[in-house]
Amino acid sequence: MESNSRDGFSSKIGVIAAAAGSAIGLGNIWRFPYIIGDNGGGAFLIVYLLCVLTLGIPIMIGEFALGRISRVNAIATFRKLAPKSIFSIVGYIGLLSAFCILSFYGVVAGWCFSYILKSLSGAFNNLTPDKADLIFNNLVSGGFEPIFWQVAFMFLTGFIVLFGIKNGIEKYSKILMPLLFIIIIILDIRALTLANANDGLSFLFKFDFSKITLNTIFMALGQAFFSLSVGMGTMITYGSYISKKENLLTTSLNVAFADTLVAVLAGIAIFPAVFTFNIDPSSGAGLAFISLPMVFSKMFMGNIFACLFFILLLVAGLTSSISILEVIVAFLCEDFNISRKKVTILTTVVVSLSGVICSLSNGFMKINLFNQSYMDFLNYLSSNFLLPLGAILISVFLGYYFDKKLFVKELTNDGEIKLPFEKLLFFLFKFFIPFIISIIFLQNLNIIKL
Ligand code: PHE
Repeated sequence: MESNSRDGFSSKIGVIAAAAGSAIGLGNIWRFPYIIGDNGGGAFLIVYLLCVLTLGIPIMIGEFALGRISRVNAIATFRKLAPKSIFSIVGYIGLLSAFCILSFYGVVAGWCFSYILKSLSGAFNNLTPDKADLIFNNLVSGGFEPIFWQVAFMFLTGFIVLFGIKNGIEKYSKILMPLLFIIIIILDIRALTLANANDGLSFLFKFDFSKITLNTIFMALGQAFFSLSVGMGTMITYGSYISKKENLLTTSLNVAFADTLVAVLAGIAIFPAVFTFNIDPSSGAGLAFISLPMVFSKMFMGNIFACLFFILLLVAGLTSSISILEVIVAFLCEDFNISRKKVTILTTVVVSLSGVICSLSNGFMKINLFNQSYMDFLNYLSSNFLLPLGAILISVFLGYYFDKKLFVKELTNDGEIKLPFEKLLFFLFKFFIPFIISIIFLQNLNIIKL
């Protein structure tokens, strides 16, 4: 990004809206419920919350601070703060993650477009679970329609990144994010009054510790990084726009709190419906798109709420996707000295093409990598390997390589505010985060067996 546009966010609310806008997205409403459904409910939730607290939030604090110190894009940050060291690789891993995530993110966001039209045309009237399932599967395994919407979404993302985000998305996310909250709460109320709501709630909140396995931790960790947008440099990029006055610690806590709250609220909207309408909680990526229309179909003015909900989900996805695209665009602009316009168009086209392959791999064609569809593979690879790999490197960088005094100075705003938990934070960077992520990696690569 050009240095003259580096004047940064205008207010505390602006910072939180943009960073929460990045964090709150399809990860909360689409990904979180089906991952928790696949991984046994309550046991997963508790591990997830622990991952947010002990791994996600520290990395977010670290990313914000690094960005605000360097005042450049994520790749240049490591070049500047750790010249000629192995840590430059963090930026490139981030680039690869951004490419993978955007490829499938656009496909899912595209489904929202289609669901908006479906709700307007009354497709969710008198819905049965079988019909809901059919509507979803017909859409995702189709050829033209999902691709059309995926490409449309990607170009919308590119359009906003092209014209800057400050007066567009930042302004609108301040209005639209609270609206999303309100709609989810209304959905929650309806879901909680469904016949088998209690079964749904106990699935979500019953902490059965015996169900926790290393794989649960592995999935929870990936979901925490994905949902908080950490491990790939998004928050470094956003950190570079934050004014020196802001308190980075409280900003991180606020963003993580809002993000987690929306995920839990989405769970409360979805699982009562899953249990009332006999949908399999482990039915995978379609869970939200199958169970929520069932809730809408049982609501007064359900079509209108459905339409509004999918619009807001689309917007939540958009405020996240621009933050992902920005990571790539900012780097290419600066490092190759190509105009922002050219880079944005080029990146959008390339990512859209990968998105087309993702969309086709959902059933229209058999496009597999490592025994999974191309889309599932990118989803798995990015959250479960690339983001944790980025996070472990950032953690080691902060724990061992980077000047601790400079880091603390940044977090305390030159000593003006207190930094509670300083010792704990460094313990996490030095030992806990690298240890946990390494163990999980080693186990999953079959190098150790626990
Ligand atoms: N956090 C976003 C979501 O939950 C996705 C995302 C991941 C955004 C990584 C930026 C970086 O939908």
